[in-house]
Amino acid sequence: MIIQPASRLGEVKEYYFSTKLREIAQMRAEGKPVLNLGIGSPDLPPSHEVIDTLTDAVLHNDVHGYQSYMGIPELRAAFAEWYEKWFGASLDPEGEILPLMGSKEGLMHIAMAFLESGDEVLVPNPGYPAYRAVSNLTGATIREYKLEPERGWLPDMEALESTDLSRVKIMWLNYPNMPTGTAADLSFLESIVAFAHRHRILIVNDNPYSFILNEQQHSILSIPGAKDVAVELNSLSKGHNMAGWRIGMLAGRADYLKVVLRFKSNMDSGMFKPVQLAAAQALKSPLSWYKRLNGVYAERRETVFQLFDALDCKYDPKQVGLFVWAKIPDLYADAYELADEVLYQHNVFITPGGIFGSQGDRYLRISLCSDGALYEEAMRRVKR
Ligand SMILES: Cc1ncc(COP(=O)(O)O)c(C=O)c1O
Repeated sequence: MIIQPASRLGEVKEYYFSTKLREIAQMRAEGKPVLNLGIGSPDLPPSHEVIDTLTDAVLHNDVHGYQSYMGIPELRAAFAEWYEKWFGASLDPEGEILPLMGSKEGLMHIAMAFLESGDEVLVPNPGYPAYRAVSNLTGATIREYKLEPERGWLPDMEALESTDLSRVKIMWLNYPNMPTGTAADLSFLESIVAFAHRHRILIVNDNPYSFILNEQQHSILSIPGAKDVAVELNSLSKGHNMAGWRIGMLAGRADYLKVVLRFKSNMDSGMFKPVQLAAAQALKSPLSWYKRLNGVYAERRETVFQLFDALDCKYDPKQVGLFVWAKIPDLYADAYELADEVLYQHNVFITPGGIFGSQGDRYLRISLCSDGALYEEAMRRVKR
C-alpha cells in the first residue's frame, strides 16, 4: 500500500462478522450449504402497519429532502411515549431524545464527543466488540471489567471501586446483556447510578434487547438522579424487526445530547422522513406485537437448547435476549476450535464467544434469527 492509514486505526480491526460473512459467502460459492446461526439480524418483517406507513409516506412530494439533525418531532414524541409506557422513564421529546441511525452509530458519536487520549474507559468483557473499537479510535485507554458466571455475569463493583477510577470518563454498560443473556434488575441499575455519582463517570447503557424474551423492561433513566450521570441507547433493530432500516436513539440530559449532536451533525444530514414516520408507528406497537414475536423466539430457543445438548454444551435456560450463550465441554482448547469443527465438518456457523473478549473463550453464541427448520437441520448434521 502506497498511502498509509492513520495511526488512530492502530488496534482497530475489521469487524469480525464482516470478515466471517465473506468466508461464508466463499464457502457457499464453492457449493457448501452453510447454515449461518451466528448473526442477530431478525429474519421476520416489521408489522404491516409499519410497512404501510413507509409506503404511503414515500408517495408524498415533501418527504424527500434533508431532514432535521434532531429527527422529526413525531419520532421524538413516539420515543418519549414509548419510554414512559414501557420503561417508566420520563423524557422531554424536545431535548432529551436524539434519533440515530441504529444504536451502533451512537456508540461512535458518544466516544468521539466525550473521549480523548488520557481518558480511561470501562469496557465489559465479554461485551459487544464495538465498545472497544470506538473507544480505541479516540485514543482513550481501555480498562476491561470482567463479567463472570459466578456473579451472574454482573460486574464486581466492589473490586472496581478498590482501583483508581480518577481518569475513567465512560463506562459502557449493556443490560439485558449481550452475549451472556443476563437481565439486570432495578436495584443493580440503582447501584450503578450511585457508583457513577461517586466517581463522576458517564454511564452509557446500551439497551437494544429489552423486548426479546425478557419480561420486564428497565431503563437506567427511570432511576432518580440518573440523568446527571447516564445516557441510554435503544434501537428498533431487534424488538421491531427493523435492523436494516437503521433506527435507534440516544436518550438523556439535553446538554449531554447537545454535545453528541455537535459531532453527529457534522457526519450525517438526518434520516429519510418516511423511515422516521414508520419508526414512530412501530413504537406504538401493542403488547400483542411483542408477545407474538417472543412466541416465535421461545419456540426456536427450545430447538437451540437441543442443538447445544447435542454439542454437549451447558447453558442457563433462563437467559434473555436474541441469542443462546452456552459453555463448551472441557475437551476443546477453546470455543474457536469447536466453532471451526462445526463449521468445516457440518457447514454450520456458530459464533465463538471469544470475539466478545477473553471471558467468552469457552462459550458459543447461537442467534435465534433463523427459521426453526434451520436449527432442526443443524441438529441433524451435528448428530450425524
Ligand atoms: C449490544 C448491542 N448493542 C448495539 C447493537 C447495534 O444495534 P443497532 O442495529 O441498533 O445499531 C447490537 C447489535 O447487534 C448489539 O448487540
